[in-house]
Amino acid sequence: MGLELKYGEGQTPLDEDEKKGLKIKTITTHGELDEFEQLNIEKAVEWTIHANLKANKILTEKFVKDLHKRMYGDVWKWAGEFRRSEKNIGISWPLIGIELKNLLDDTKYWIANKTYPPEEIAIRFKHRLVSIHCFPNGNGRHSRMMADIIIESIFDKEVFTWHRSNMVKTDKTRKEYINALKEADNGNIEPLIEFAKN
Ligand SMILES: Nc1ncnc2c1ncn2[C@@H]1O[C@H](COP(=O)(O)OP(=O)(O)OP(=O)(O)O)[C@@H](O)[C@H]1O
Ligand SMILES: [Mg+2]
Repeated sequence: MGLELKYGEGQTPLDEDEKKGLKIKTITTHGELDEFEQLNIEKAVEWTIHANLKANKILTEKFVKDLHKRMYGDVWKWAGEFRRSEKNIGISWPLIGIELKNLLDDTKYWIANKTYPPEEIAIRFKHRLVSIHCFPNGNGRHSRMMADIIIESIFDKEVFTWHRSNMVKTDKTRKEYINALKEADNGNIEPLIEFAKN
């Protein structure tokens, strides 16, 4: 039984090997997949509430991987492991480790030196993280949760509202989100900050 998935704009398709990593064999449609992933993600959110997270723990490769595993580990065998294939979004896969280290180091510097306001640090981190695209899938949702964890646990502020959407459907809200990411690709981070705050 195969998994037939359709992809919208700004989504990264899975290759055949990655599809084999599906743990729940009864899933056959994208809708069912979305639901199982959403349940798993809600468990991860629950975990973050009780985990007492601090900056020195959050801004590490280990935490970035652990969070991905918490979000998708019930559904995908490769949850929490860096991708080993090229994607339409993201850098060449052998560079993921080094680019993530650069990002983590830059972010610690921004925090220590107050280079940008808290919201801007969290959203700049989110945008660069999803541009690296560490994992075979789930990078968008993972990067948004990382931004929420940074703003809440490092800066002691309310989490972002993200237009009250999980952006799974290809609707007007998702279009606005993808456009804000493209603006950020071109060096204008403001639309993505505004999107996250509203
Ligand atoms: N031009 C772009 N620049 C940076 N990031 C992008 C761009 N286009 C799309 N993205 C991000 O990549 C995500 C798709 O990657 P992936 O499928 O791994 O994430 P996802 O969590 O499954 O998707 P989603 O964010 O839709 O829940 C998009 O949702 C978006 O967050
Ligand atoms: Mg996806």
